[in-house]
Amino acid sequence: MKLKIRNWVALLCSMWMSFAVSVLEGVGPIPDPLEVFGHDDKNDVIGTKWAILVAGSYGYGNYRHQADICHAYQVLKNGGLKDENIIVFMYDDIAHNPLNPNRGIIINKPNGTDVYKGVPKDYTGDVTTAQNFYAVISGNRSALSGGSGKVVDSGPNDTIFIFYADHGSVGTISAMPVGDNVFAPDFVAVLKKKHAANSYRKMVSFPRILPNDIDIYVTTASNSQQSSYAFYCPGGNPSPPPEYTVCLGDLYSISWLEDSDQNDRTKETLQQQYEIVRQRTTGSAVMQYGDTNLANDFLATYIGATPNLYENTYSFEPSTTQTTLISQRDANLLHLHLELEKAPKGSEEKLKAQRKLDDEIAQREHVDNVFNLIGDFLFREKKNSMMLHRPSGQPLVDDWDCFRILVKTYESQCGTLSTYGRKYTRAFANMCNVGISKEQLKVASLQACLNKNHAS
Ligand SMILES: *[C@@H]1O[C@H](CO)[C@@H](O)[C@H](O)[C@H]1NC(C)=O
Ligand SMILES: *[C@@H]1O[C@H](CO)[C@@H](O)[C@H](O)[C@H]1NC(C)=O
Ligand SMILES: *[C@@H]1O[C@H](CO)[C@@H](O)[C@H](O)[C@H]1NC(C)=O
Repeated sequence: MKLKIRNWVALLCSMWMSFAVSVLEGVGPIPDPLEVFGHDDKNDVIGTKWAILVAGSYGYGNYRHQADICHAYQVLKNGGLKDENIIVFMYDDIAHNPLNPNRGIIINKPNGTDVYKGVPKDYTGDVTTAQNFYAVISGNRSALSGGSGKVVDSGPNDTIFIFYADHGSVGTISAMPVGDNVFAPDFVAVLKKKHAANSYRKMVSFPRILPNDIDIYVTTASNSQQSSYAFYCPGGNPSPPPEYTVCLGDLYSISWLEDSDQNDRTKETLQQQYEIVRQRTTGSAVMQYGDTNLANDFLATYIGATPNLYENTYSFEPSTTQTTLISQRDANLLHLHLELEKAPKGSEEKLKAQRKLDDEIAQREHVDNVFNLIGDFLFREKKNSMMLHRPSGQPLVDDWDCFRILVKTYESQCGTLSTYGRKYTRAFANMCNVGISKEQLKVASLQACLNKNHAS
């Protein structure tokens, strides 16, 4: 039995994400079943519990990501975390959106309670940027621009919990609502620096992207080969009330959130929750990465323990045979279709809804077209290799700087990648892996996106 005494722990970060983080695949999934480690009792009495909650999207069609984040806030608050230690990034355009049938209220399941109430508005609107996210994690106030000024000002005994809800895409941990993406290596670099700054431990540098010696445990909604799924969608089972044209949550997120609401967190470990979430999250392979020892910690170590378990208004088991799973990328299309259906015949609204839907479809076709052309231009007869997955165990890309530069090069010619466009991020990784240069991509993008401002 291995027992790790961790009174020196500098950073402990447990992360649930709504989509693939293929960058972690270089590390490989944790072998299953896990070796059983002993609990470290000291864990339960260490310092302050911190949390960062990030919704990476905006727009009413993405209702569910901000709903997941707000629900997470309620879980933490209920667990005894203080507002001063919970830092929220959300665009905040859902609760008061004209399309929201219950203005001022956000729910995360059909007939659920308001999860928006009390959520701190730390970084909203234009200041929900990657720069602020890094500054918040690092605890560097002078690097902040706008927002509440709250940062993770943690000490060596503290824990940090990070939850990200977004569509995700290959090679970026997430998009932020505004500005640059959070690129995986930048994120890891910030974490490493923090770990080093808060402890006396010598850092061992691994070539791997997510080192397993910086006390980080991560779970994700799916591996890089798959999509993850939205849930509580119109037409699903159970379905939101008919006035909602959006999905209320993501299957992976609501699985851990509802589990945390309903169970004694002083008795359930991260590993146990991982198993429960994995079983409930049909359609995608929930993964765990990082320091496996931490999986044996109780949930309460990170998200606190709740004296009052939430009332469970109904319990249900999702059935893949009864419910069509809606992928992250299709959820917005469903929303636009339903808005069109809902609008009265012959009304101005109907025309607007039709235009929005047409625009979205045209945009998607355009992006497909652009990448098709870029593939022809750069890969020629080997075009099929542009979107190929590398063998498992190999990182997505060998040269992360190249990846970052190529994404920027493309965006400088064709506009920012949209949610849909981000399904092609793998193409940039593969370009780097076969040695395509920035100049080559620039020429190809210029040609493919000619006369279009919005290629995303
Ligand atoms: C939500 O409430 C309505 C009205 O009370 C009820 O008909 C419906 O079955 C409820 N939905 C769920 C999923 O519980
Ligand atoms: C904090 O951010 C500022 C501005 O970006 C930077 O100059 C400084 O080096 C940072 N401090 C630390 C300790 O990283
Ligand atoms: C961390 O915890 C240890 C052991 O409980 C204690 O001796 C130490 O003072 C704590 N450090 C801080 C900075 O709180």
